[in-house]
Amino acid sequence: MKELISVKDKVILVTGAFGLIGKEISTAFLDGEAKVVLADINANAAETIAQEFGAKYSADSFLVQVLDITSEESAAACMEAIVAKFGRLDVLVNNAAIDAKFDKQGTSAVNASRFENYPMELLRKSVEVNLTGTVLMTQHACRQMLKQGSGNIINVASTYSMVAPNQQLYDFGDGAEIKYKPIDYIASKSFIPNYTRYLATFYAKDNIRCNAIVPHGIFNDHEEKFLKNFARMSPLGRMCNREELNGPFVFLASDASSYMTGSVLSVDGGWTAW
Ligand SMILES: NC(=O)c1ccc[n+]([C@@H]2O[C@H](COP(=O)([O-])OP(=O)(O)OC[C@H]3O[C@@H](n4cnc5c(N)ncnc54)[C@H](O)[C@@H]3O)[C@@H](O)[C@H]2O)c1
Repeated sequence: MKELISVKDKVILVTGAFGLIGKEISTAFLDGEAKVVLADINANAAETIAQEFGAKYSADSFLVQVLDITSEESAAACMEAIVAKFGRLDVLVNNAAIDAKFDKQGTSAVNASRFENYPMELLRKSVEVNLTGTVLMTQHACRQMLKQGSGNIINVASTYSMVAPNQQLYDFGDGAEIKYKPIDYIASKSFIPNYTRYLATFYAKDNIRCNAIVPHGIFNDHEEKFLKNFARMSPLGRMCNREELNGPFVFLASDASSYMTGSVLSVDGGWTAW
């Protein structure tokens, strides 16, 4: 079993790797003796990430890359660097995404988070990164995987790829204006499950698998009033601890999931079960 559920020596690219989930799963892959490429658009954090990971892991086991998944040049340069260092790419984790922030101060007269008011430029931006960027990065990875004759893609979806947000989650009953979960995230993440099925069937004969993980509500020092609402609506009654994603990601990246392709694996504490 230890050998089966293993990522040892697999070359794994994690996009959005400097963020909450990306950093956590990159650490888990490295602990599992994989070769990990941590790639993210946040150039300011690259040096700190390199130092942090360099203190724990050997320099030949990881690579830090500044990557913009919406840019052809950047994606090509990232793939070039991966092949130069590790010779191949076994697993792509399409994790990078934006969750647009809007009118945080609430100073505007209109509630911009409401559907009828939501700014089109924010919608376009989310689609550009979460949809177009994800496709673009996958194209670059697939060219390499086709050359190798093997590959494995893990897309990161969301419960909001599957169901509508329950907007009551954001209503704290304190009379304050509700900041709704806006349309851009739902629009741009809803494509992930069917994109997963598209890739899985398109590349099935090329020995490239594709599956998705559906995380939900990763705890990140949320306010008490949010935690209370969340607990009431969640079957498991709590948010997800970030390390609870590691098992599902390692499983899908490993050969233990070799007969799985086109599947959408919920890791949501039962959120979409009722
Ligand atoms: N946190 C949650 O509760 C949650 C729940 C469900 C799904 N997700 C999904 O998990 C994934 C990671 O989310 P997170 O919570 O870690 O978010 P995060 O904001 O902490 O991390 C996202 C990372 O992506 C990077 N990024 C943004 N645009 C990029 C681009 N153009 N190119 C490369 N990198 C870019 C950011 O710099 C950031 O480091 C996303 O796909 C998100 O939709 C998160």
